[in-house]
Amino acid sequence: MIILAVETSCDETSVSVVKNGKEVLSNIVLSQIEIHQAFGGVVPEIASRNHIANMTLVFEEALQKAQIKIAEIDLVAVTEGPGLIGALLVGINAATAFAFAHNKPLIGINHLAGHIYSANLEHQLKFPLLALLVSGGHTELVYMKEHFNFQVLGSTLDDAVGEAYDKVSRMLGLAYPGGPIIDKLAKTGKDVYNLPRAYLDKDDYKFSFSGLKSAVNNLIYHAGRKGETLNKNDLAASFQEAVIDVLIFKLQHAIEEFDVKQVIIAGGVAANTRLRERVFAEIKNQEIIIPSIQYCTDNAAMIGAAAYYAYKNHGGLKNYQLGGKSTLSL
Ligand code: KG4
Ligand code: ZN
Repeated sequence: MIILAVETSCDETSVSVVKNGKEVLSNIVLSQIEIHQAFGGVVPEIASRNHIANMTLVFEEALQKAQIKIAEIDLVAVTEGPGLIGALLVGINAATAFAFAHNKPLIGINHLAGHIYSANLEHQLKFPLLALLVSGGHTELVYMKEHFNFQVLGSTLDDAVGEAYDKVSRMLGLAYPGGPIIDKLAKTGKDVYNLPRAYLDKDDYKFSFSGLKSAVNNLIYHAGRKGETLNKNDLAASFQEAVIDVLIFKLQHAIEEFDVKQVIIAGGVAANTRLRERVFAEIKNQEIIIPSIQYCTDNAAMIGAAAYYAYKNHGGLKNYQLGGKSTLSL
């Protein structure tokens, strides 16, 4: 089954062709990061406009690179939410127009499901599984007993992990997105600033990162007042260790409570080198899958992978009346 997938929920315009939920025939990702960097974050209206400007190009390149004929495409999939509504609508309109013009079925896919299914591109999902989804907009721990059966065990009460990375980067006067920058700085820093770990109730799976963010802010503010200079590398390392301590603690707890065959860590923050290193070092006797970096950050291949199973599971396809759902949950 050949699926053409479109993803435009945030600032990446992406089109991919995926065979049988696994084999990536093409995955074109055009990132707008450089455009948004000047504003210190994604500007929704600018994101929508750039999706419009780039969509045809990305679409054509994905089809060309996959070396398939349009007639071979069995299904068109598109992210229907969650995400920036204007950005989502560009992808939905492009996918709908293509599906309609070529008389193909169309299916809407949840972006978060896409992140989880990104793990299926290089590995095979095994159920039951636990998925830790850490991105710029979401932090969720999910239990899946079978395909397309999502039980959200807990999510963040305030900031998403990636959002905290981005905000701390900004506080340090560094660029957007902050994740890769802090990741790099932390490599030569030490965890010396003793930042708080918000374990909350140790028996549940809720997360909170706003307190940690405020602690970094206070540290910077008080150092400034006292005329002290903070070591950015140490601060990056201290922030990062505090984040990862909590993520691993909650994940370990869930692994103890649920007997699972596999643990998946996905989403943009799963690209973090220290998280990857610590997870494999500290979580023993458990199959852990973290997709390669290209599939951790937003891409349409993951939407194509999820669509294959959504189609198999639900069968019933949506008509061409797909709308964007900015706050769609799993
Ligand atoms: O999944 P994603 O591409 O988009 C959303 O769906 O949000 O995630 C983007 C987030 C950003 O907050 C970015 O700072 C973070 O992922 N990120 C990282 C790293 N690479 C990207 N965070 C920590 N370490 C990284 N290496
Ligand atoms: Zn994402």
